[in-house]
Amino acid sequence: MTETRRTLPRVTAPAPTQADGASGAAVGGAVGEVLVSAEDLQRRVRELGEAISRDYAGRRLLLVGVLKGAVFFLSDLMRFIDIPVEVDFMAVASYGSATDSSGVVRILKDLDAAIEERDVLIVEDIVDSGLTLQYLLRNLGSRNPRTLEVCALLTKPARRKVELQAKYVGFEIPDKFVVGYGLDYAERHRNLPFVAALERG
Ligand code: IMP
Ligand code: MG
Repeated sequence: MTETRRTLPRVTAPAPTQADGASGAAVGGAVGEVLVSAEDLQRRVRELGEAISRDYAGRRLLLVGVLKGAVFFLSDLMRFIDIPVEVDFMAVASYGSATDSSGVVRILKDLDAAIEERDVLIVEDIVDSGLTLQYLLRNLGSRNPRTLEVCALLTKPARRKVELQAKYVGFEIPDKFVVGYGLDYAERHRNLPFVAALERG
């Protein structure tokens, strides 16, 4: 027993200031102030999972994860849901600059299955302008789900361009570009276990 344990790898969390490394600056940003710690993420994700389990008891819950940013949040969230639940994914691309979406959205990967009469909960990493979610709500809404709601880990109310109701929200954050826990800048920093502001270099 002890022999087996000794061969297991040690897992240690990366140190916040070193996680990015020197190469982070090469893509135009370094990891700055931590806005949501790993502990706060886990606590809040658990609360959201418990609320969803209560609210959707006895229903046919389908989580729709928006690739790629929501994958990390969704996989943690699902482990705190204790009612039958299924998962599907969509990938969308929003035309615009690296940090601003335009509202013109293209589907890169559609759902695997129909959602008619399903209780659909869209799981998103962050609501910024709200344009991506507005598009998804219209698109999925036209497929006749029984219910259609949104669960977003983060929201930046100051950036909102369209009126949008998310049934579940993890944290409100200030108007800063953030990375970590799924959120990227130029595909980097998704692996950070916390959410931090990006310092533009
Ligand atoms: P929206 O359409 O402006 O609401 O943008 C939504 C998408 O933009 C999110 O799903 C993210 O992929 C991305 N995004 C918005 N704000 C941030 C941020 O601060 N960091 C990383 N990605 C972001
Ligand atoms: Mg993104």
